[in-house]
Amino acid sequence: MIDLHSHILPGLDDGSRTVDEARALARRAADDGVTAIAATPHVRSDYPTRPEEMERGVTRLREDFVEQEIDVEVLPGGEIDLVMLGSLDDDELRRFTLAQSGRYLLLEFPYSGWPSGLEETVYGLGLRGFLAILAHPERNREVQSSPARLGEAVRMGALVQLTAASLDGRIGRSSQKAAERLLEDGLAHLLASDAHTPEIREAGLGAAAEAVGDDGLARFLTVEAPAAIVAGEPVPKPPRKARRRRYLLF
Ligand SMILES: [Fe+2]
Repeated sequence: MIDLHSHILPGLDDGSRTVDEARALARRAADDGVTAIAATPHVRSDYPTRPEEMERGVTRLREDFVEQEIDVEVLPGGEIDLVMLGSLDDDELRRFTLAQSGRYLLLEFPYSGWPSGLEETVYGLGLRGFLAILAHPERNREVQSSPARLGEAVRMGALVQLTAASLDGRIGRSSQKAAERLLEDGLAHLLASDAHTPEIREAGLGAAAEAVGDDGLARFLTVEAPAAIVAGEPVPKPPRKARRRRYLLF
């Protein structure tokens, strides 16, 4: 599996604090079947990570993992706040694209309130050659009350990333229900950990993939779609998840 959302780089944001924590995260992910992790530090007003800080962190962690024999590839990336987006030029954005393929940008979806101008933002990025990936919208209350509202942004070209801990219920019932609904409606393209420290939202991609309840779709979300994103290639439409059958027992 490829995990395209993590705060594994030490000391840049509210994620890993030390290289020991980063190693622990990566070891746990490797045990879970993860072969590559994108380092996506926050790029927002409280953690205004610069591209060169992220790149330096990725280089250091790569070297450390080789020395430590941790078999996980670290990829560049960033989790860009929608407000910060406007202050970044094309070169800065390109450097924050996932795996620096030059195509896919992970955008932080707010936890409350509907982001104004979301569809225009997605469209505008498209004109500049970038594709938006919306990070964990299932945790947003507006999306929870109306998951279909994401449809317009998806039609504009956005992809949707669900967080593993939402899907397996660790974050709570509302996020889980919204995540399931987005999967059933074909509005989710990617499953990722959003891992911060070994304690908070630790990897757990394997458990979440199982919670999808559909092997083909789970593979799409954790292997096929992320591999296409890393390669900078188009992501095909996700296979539709069958609604859970309910049996009446007499
Ligand atoms: Fe995140």
